Amino acid sequence: MNSGTRMSLLAIIGGSGFSDFPALAVEASRRVETPFGETSAPVVSGRLDGAEVLFLPRHGIGHRLPPHLINYRANLWALRHLGAERVVGLAAVGGIGPRFSPLALAVPHDLIDYTHGRAHSIYDGEQGGLDHVDMTSPYCEDLRLALIRACAESGHPAVEEGVYGATQGPRLETTAEIVRLERDGCDLVGMTGMPEAGIARELGLCYASLAFVVNWAAGKGEGVITMAEIEAHLSECVGRVRRVLGILATSG
Ligand code: HPA
Repeated sequence: MNSGTRMSLLAIIGGSGFSDFPALAVEASRRVETPFGETSAPVVSGRLDGAEVLFLPRHGIGHRLPPHLINYRANLWALRHLGAERVVGLAAVGGIGPRFSPLALAVPHDLIDYTHGRAHSIYDGEQGGLDHVDMTSPYCEDLRLALIRACAESGHPAVEEGVYGATQGPRLETTAEIVRLERDGCDLVGMTGMPEAGIARELGLCYASLAFVVNWAAGKGEGVITMAEIEAHLSECVGRVRRVLGILATSG
């Protein structure tokens, strides 16, 4: 860490495999009241390899919230309220393109939103105000580059770009749905990347995603997708991602 330089506060939104974060030396756990209701869990602040970070498990404590019932607006609003300027959304994903095989790390540069029926904007007519935020590049490039550097430094270089397709879940996709996503240009598929990235942009947060591939998307591997396969890959990814986050948090 650079002494004397105040780094912008980093928040980590944990997904599958990161319902808790044992590497974090917890200093406080805070329930935050938001205009949008309750966050998935209290926001934890603590130190990761000595650097101050915030942590929020997207699916709640014990992984109880499915992707379509997560209060994305409350989560991001709370992180900003507690001073976060940079937010990394962790994402376990299925791999579509050949570069995105299980265990790969990836830092997507663009996305397509296939979700529906989620509260997807802070502009809901109740809080007042309206802005049509630019999403030409939906992820914060500075944070993307910092993530790419951290992955390289950790010894697990990331695929440095990719298009993330956000599906509704919680079921996995059909083969035809994945063929369609591939035709649309998607490289990765997950269930929580939107509306998270869009709301982060509305709130003026520097947001990027660190994706880790836990299965071949439907029809891209052998046979059906099993939870056993996903969990085996997930547990290998957790250690790698934890190291990347430590490097990111301490490098400013
Ligand atoms: N599809 C959608 N979300 C996912 C997948 C998938 O194959 N794997 C992990 N999250």
